[in-house]
Amino acid sequence: MPKTFRISRRNLLKASVGATAILAVGYTGYKWFDQPVILDLNIKQPLSIPPLYAGDIVDGKVFFDLTMQKGSHEFVVGKPAKTQGYNGGLLGPTLVMNKDDEVVINVTNRLGVATTTHWHGLHIPSDQDGGPYQVIEDGATWQAQFKIMNEAATFFYHPHLLDKTAEQLYSGLAGLLIVRDPKNEPKLPNEYGVDDIPLIIQDKSFNEDGSLAYEFDDIGVKGNHLLVNGLVTPVFEAPAQLVRFRLLNGSNARLFNFGFSDNRKFYQIATDGGLLEKPVALTRLVLSSAERAEIIVDFSDQQNSQVELINYADETSDLHPFWMRDALDEKASSLLTINLGAPTESATIKLPEKLTTINKLEEKQAVKTRKLELGFSFIGSNATINGLEMDMERIDQTINLGDTEIWEISNASDLLHPFHIHDIQFQILSRNGNPPSENERGWKDTVLVMSQETVRIIAKFEDFSDPKIPYMYHCHILEHEDGGMMGQFLVI
Ligand code: C2O
Ligand code: CU
Ligand code: CU
Repeated sequence: MPKTFRISRRNLLKASVGATAILAVGYTGYKWFDQPVILDLNIKQPLSIPPLYAGDIVDGKVFFDLTMQKGSHEFVVGKPAKTQGYNGGLLGPTLVMNKDDEVVINVTNRLGVATTTHWHGLHIPSDQDGGPYQVIEDGATWQAQFKIMNEAATFFYHPHLLDKTAEQLYSGLAGLLIVRDPKNEPKLPNEYGVDDIPLIIQDKSFNEDGSLAYEFDDIGVKGNHLLVNGLVTPVFEAPAQLVRFRLLNGSNARLFNFGFSDNRKFYQIATDGGLLEKPVALTRLVLSSAERAEIIVDFSDQQNSQVELINYADETSDLHPFWMRDALDEKASSLLTINLGAPTESATIKLPEKLTTINKLEEKQAVKTRKLELGFSFIGSNATINGLEMDMERIDQTINLGDTEIWEISNASDLLHPFHIHDIQFQILSRNGNPPSENERGWKDTVLVMSQETVRIIAKFEDFSDPKIPYMYHCHILEHEDGGMMGQFLVI
């Protein structure tokens, strides 16, 4: 089924006037949409930590109940917005599971419209994946069952209905899923909400009446305000010791460039799908939509001081073409204020030198190289992979169970695209022929592909095959995904 041709305001503008002429009249890309918001926002509230949900053990299996429901949330003082969430009005509980657990998750849909829930990053059968094939009709309950085979890491769950992912996620539906591996994890800050802190970073816009503003735009929707766990610039009381933050870029389209207000060093310890071999010292960390990272920050001996987590955005002006930068891309913004207080008992934990061993996939193990070209044009068929928009009737790739493959993902478009593959975790071989940076040498399920970049990745497609139900691969800018930049693969 071909998609209906969408023409956005931006397309119209680009198509009819041309970029140079637009410049002459002062068009500055995204800023065109940024309305000055003079609202009394609910700022400096204590950071809300999504409740931890460990499930109930019955006959050796771990059971979870999730209800997708409507609710409300006061982003603006005294003006509640209609939102949606899991087991509440916004976001969802943090599901915590152990490696090798057999889990059963009942997902009930009370949204009034059809939806799905996808377990982003988990290595599970395609009929349990929660993608566009596992539709949950309004009022229905879908039961997902699988064994946790992934490494300890930070994953997330979110709706994935064909064409509707962007608006459903933006409305508030998303939650974290932490996999732990008590037998193999090194000693790290591990006390949820105390020294192991989940941070879901998003952006949203609000109307005068406090309601959420969302209008689909195929180029990707960025909000006017940055949020951490659903709050604008909240405050967190942290112990003055090593603290672990689990960062999720939960935005529809925005790139975040994290750092601290004093430019201090921090250590990335995990990528999307597991620990890095050793901590990597950084002062900045870029995450595109759906990417996760775990970092450790050393606040020892800093009791009674204060530091801020900052989005340094496009400070070097090399992340976006200038016409793609909005006001928030051009300036550093505070995300979270951290007040440092008394250390806890776990203050004795030291940053380990070695975290894990990663079995490196070698190019010579690959039996095939697939080429995927990410395309985005402002006119006509907008968001494509290998020139095609998503079509559930068409299988794009068929992979033999057990094969190791190289995927060569290239981006000749002007936009950046976070590319995500279901089913597997992969390793990055190269970016434009160069080895990935040290903090990308771990398991990944989403990789940022910059404009004019070719990223080669390698993965082994093992354990699960299904002759009928495919997995998805797609751009995780949700409007690109919904606009067609998605394909399907079968493992047989
Ligand atoms: Cu986070 Cu196909 O999804
Ligand atoms: Cu996914
Ligand atoms: Cu994209």
